[in-house]
Amino acid sequence: MVQGKFIVVEGIEGAGKSSAISVIENFLQQRDVAFEKTREPGGTVIAEKLRALVKEPSDEQVTPECELLLMYASRSQLLHNKIKPALDSGKYVIGDRHDLSSRAYQGGGREFNDDTINTIADITLKGFKPDLTLYLDIEPELGLARAQARGELDRIEQEKIDFFHRVRNKYLSLATLDDSIFIVDASQTMEQVHRDIQNILGEQLSG
Ligand code: TMP
Repeated sequence: MVQGKFIVVEGIEGAGKSSAISVIENFLQQRDVAFEKTREPGGTVIAEKLRALVKEPSDEQVTPECELLLMYASRSQLLHNKIKPALDSGKYVIGDRHDLSSRAYQGGGREFNDDTINTIADITLKGFKPDLTLYLDIEPELGLARAQARGELDRIEQEKIDFFHRVRNKYLSLATLDDSIFIVDASQTMEQVHRDIQNILGEQLSG
């Protein structure tokens, strides 16, 4: 059985992850490629419980360390119980966020150093990484305004704008170091963003 591929969509709030995921779904459906979708944090029964703990505003402060570990706890459940079995059965997996989010939000936003995150990532992922990541890049001011227009902000979305600038800078610097990560300019029209995504998929997934 040929292994499936893991395609991940990344970006700050309001970057347009959901519509990018729809473009990937259509691309795969048109080619009769079977796939599953996941989201992080979350995606299994236990991981969804962890997602609620991380996302819901609460009277008790979530420490940065707790947040970091919950992200990886959730990722471990998802990787072992859903992503790997799907890939092993030949299916593709479309991920709404993965490890790069922790590196951008906890590494960039919360300023955990790379060594700390590498240690936890090594324990959790054991070298596993996506085949292709699409990072939707957008100015935090624009992205957050879009997210705000959609409804109430979750605990992390309520962070100050500086936090999102650090997250974006980390995304950009990590994307330039890894040739499996493609930067898509998410401030363009939706049609142009979709065309860019289709072009990347066409180039990277053919053959
Ligand atoms: P979303 O799935 O609606 O984008 O919400 C997930 C939130 O969790 C979002 O604010 C980004 C944040 N997050 C992290 O801080 N670190 C992570 O590793 C992941 C997967 C998400």
